[in-house]
Amino acid sequence: MSEGLGQRETILSMKNISKKFGELVVLDDVSLEVYEHDVIVLCGPSGGGKSTLLRTINGLEKINSGEIYYRGTKIDHKNINSIRKHIGMVFQQFNLFNNLSVRDNLLIAPIKTQHKSKEEMLKKAMEELEIFGIADKIDAYPHQLSGGQKQRVAIVRSLMMEPDLMLFDEPTSALDPEMIREVLDSMRRLSEMGMTMIIVTHEMGFAKEVASRVCFLENAKIRVNTDTKSFFENSQDERLNQFLSVILHH
Ligand SMILES: Nc1ncnc2c1ncn2[C@@H]1O[C@H](COP(=O)(O)OP(=O)(O)OP(=O)(O)O)[C@@H](O)[C@H]1O
Ligand SMILES: [Mg+2]
Repeated sequence: MSEGLGQRETILSMKNISKKFGELVVLDDVSLEVYEHDVIVLCGPSGGGKSTLLRTINGLEKINSGEIYYRGTKIDHKNINSIRKHIGMVFQQFNLFNNLSVRDNLLIAPIKTQHKSKEEMLKKAMEELEIFGIADKIDAYPHQLSGGQKQRVAIVRSLMMEPDLMLFDEPTSALDPEMIREVLDSMRRLSEMGMTMIIVTHEMGFAKEVASRVCFLENAKIRVNTDTKSFFENSQDERLNQFLSVILHH
């Protein structure tokens, strides 16, 4: 896709992905291209395959057929571990280490698995916590944080690995309304910083403002994949319109 004068690099290319659990087809011939700086919102009814789609990208689920390319390299069982290092994932349920302080949650992976210097990583952690408004929580333990704060720590923890693609699976759906905003603002900030993201969410106000494309995944297929304006303004898809009328009036 061209944008202005330059050509944006393709970060991720999913080609004809199929995934079954036993007899159940969960992804049926799904294709998706993600370009640098894209913010793609994935939405659709429960059980449609959204989480599974995200999980296939970083190898948490094996695909039955199709191909996934990361920056032009086909992902296979040999290179998945090195490719995964570039892909951050944030889940609904934070997945922080409850027995570790925020500081140690942030430092453990870069120091233990990437052998980065502690001093350098602590500096980076402070900078990122500052950006996301939680620098004062560096010594807190997860049980001392609100849901919104935990989720922002989870985002910072991902950023410590310097990902160039971030996957979010319903990052706000376990949060109270006032905390939803903090986390949406954090993702908006990430998009302003140029992060490429795929976000499963039903926060349609956020999608309208921040997404570059919106995909509607239903019954194992991407039924609609279009720029954000067209998605909300003139969908021709009856199932999508039905879905939108339910969630927008919810
Ligand atoms: N490990 C698994 N084993 C068997 N079936 C699974 C497994 N994981 C998911 N499924 C099934 O695959 C289908 C798609 O699940 P998935 O979690 O991807 O949907 P989703 O769109 O994320 O739904 P939700 O909006 O509820 O999170 C569902 O029917 C689900 O029951
Ligand atoms: Mg899901």
